Amino acid sequence: MLLLNREDIKKVFSMKDAIEADKKAFTLVVEGKCDAPLRTNIQAPRYEGCFLFMPAYVEEMDTASLKIINIFPHNIDEGLPSSPAQVLLIDGKTGIVTAVLDGTYVTQMRTGAASGAAFDVLAKKDCKIGALIGTGGQAATQLEAMLAARKLEEVRVYDLNYDRTEVFARKMQEELASYGAKITAVKSSDEAIDDADLLITVTPSSTPVFDGTKIKKGATISCVGAYQHHMQEMDPAILPRASKIYFDSKDAVLSESGDILIPLEEGIITEDDFTGDLGSVIKGELVGRENDDEIIVFETVGVATQDLMAAKTIYDRAVAAGVGIDWK
Ligand SMILES: NC(=O)c1ccc[n+]([C@@H]2O[C@H](COP(=O)([O-])OP(=O)(O)OC[C@H]3O[C@@H](n4cnc5c(N)ncnc54)[C@H](O)[C@@H]3O)[C@@H](O)[C@H]2O)c1
Repeated sequence: MLLLNREDIKKVFSMKDAIEADKKAFTLVVEGKCDAPLRTNIQAPRYEGCFLFMPAYVEEMDTASLKIINIFPHNIDEGLPSSPAQVLLIDGKTGIVTAVLDGTYVTQMRTGAASGAAFDVLAKKDCKIGALIGTGGQAATQLEAMLAARKLEEVRVYDLNYDRTEVFARKMQEELASYGAKITAVKSSDEAIDDADLLITVTPSSTPVFDGTKIKKGATISCVGAYQHHMQEMDPAILPRASKIYFDSKDAVLSESGDILIPLEEGIITEDDFTGDLGSVIKGELVGRENDDEIIVFETVGVATQDLMAAKTIYDRAVAAGVGIDWK
């Protein structure tokens, strides 16, 4: 069994690779080729946390996986990841676990890559300004995915905690210097989204984190954080303005995300307003962006197929490159 930590994964798996792995995963989802039951969620109310178990099996790849990802929102105050995780990769012919991967990093990469895949497929070609709301554990890979998808001049970053925002922006300016964009910490959500072509929201907020009436024409928005019914980062005002609404998986989003469930219940949108899954656009079966004025919304809650595809790609490359610890 191969043990792969964050540094091992970095050696063999870039953000571009993660975006391609996610595109394949979203395609498998719409083809019905991945058996991925909705995740098991056990609540830990004592710590406002929960344990999530996410299994997946793709028969045609002879591969299964199980991610254990536990969401403990107060960890951030202790300098610990809010979503600690491991991914077990399983040989589909024998049922033997072949690898254990740092699931926190796999999650960060594949979750960032979901926004990256959405922007790659749905954003207008000429984008200059990005906005990122949220600077927690998932934020760095969201930012990198945005930069990998489009050549941006500037990304404005906003978080409730301005001190953390400044530290984050400085660190990212250094780490992601090769993308050539200016990373700026700003003090309000309005400042972040002003004139933005791309917007990512990645917070655990239960109230909207941006003003949907102020999003400019032609923008593409990826909302990542709302994985429970009461959570809502997306301002519902954006939905009637959006000409298209896509999902990583409509079934998964409608089973848990307040970003979509609350506006549905309030009658702001109906299911007829949904365009469909990103995988169908990637397969060429569903229309994507049709002009540079459309506002397009993408909602992602994450599917286990993303973990499987990322883990399998990383494992195959690590074996070929002799990376990781072989644990007998
Ligand atoms: N879609 C997916 O596949 C996926 C995968 C992993 C995590 N998530 C979710 O993404 C969200 C963010 O994850 P994380 O690990 O980065 O969380 P985190 O706790 O590490 O950081 C969250 C950040 O959001 C900020 N924030 C909260 N409310 C805000 C508001 N109203 N405006 C601006 N900033 C605000 C906080 O100050 C904090 O810096 C969580 O809800 C998590 O469960 C989604």
